[in-house]
Amino acid sequence: MTHQSIRIIHDEHAALTAMLRSMGMLVQRGPQDRPEQFFDVLRAMLFYMDEFPERLHHTKETELLFPPVAARSAATREVIAQLTHEHDVGEAKVRELQHLLLGWELLGDSRRADFEAALKAYVEFYLTHIRLEESVVIPEALKVLDDADWMLLDTAFTTQSNPITGKYAREPLYDRLFTRIAMHTPAPIGLGS
Ligand SMILES: [Fe+2]
Ligand SMILES: [Fe+2]
Repeated sequence: MTHQSIRIIHDEHAALTAMLRSMGMLVQRGPQDRPEQFFDVLRAMLFYMDEFPERLHHTKETELLFPPVAARSAATREVIAQLTHEHDVGEAKVRELQHLLLGWELLGDSRRADFEAALKAYVEFYLTHIRLEESVVIPEALKVLDDADWMLLDTAFTTQSNPITGKYAREPLYDRLFTRIAMHTPAPIGLGS
């Protein structure tokens, strides 16, 4: 049986991975003859990457999943410290990308290479981060956490554990945004025209 909390993490990783891959493909394809659509979609994608992990995904990992794993498994402490640091710097990386994208859109093609290089580095950074969580932290969690830990984790992941912010609860707003972005991303990367 898969734990609810792990299933949620996998689902969120799948959404983030899809968004990262689409951004990479879209930028490789370039604006072509519809620059307006191109920049609109990329801006929305970067907004999604800025908001969703920051507000919902990282907090669950940093505050709920990582601490019990690090407490029980000394071997993972270094990796978990690195992943936590990456959560902290991810926001600055997206903001930088948003700025570079505006530079390309408003100042023209002389700024294109800067954005392309930064986006490529960001996609790699993020995919490596997710891979590390899936290949090291989650397998170790499955080994070292006991039934009581899973009960706590699953409850926190699936209910509004924080009554004021409800910050661990699933947020349909981001699912809707994800769908909207897909509908506007040009085919065959997305479902748009
Ligand atoms: Fe993470
Ligand atoms: Fe993650």
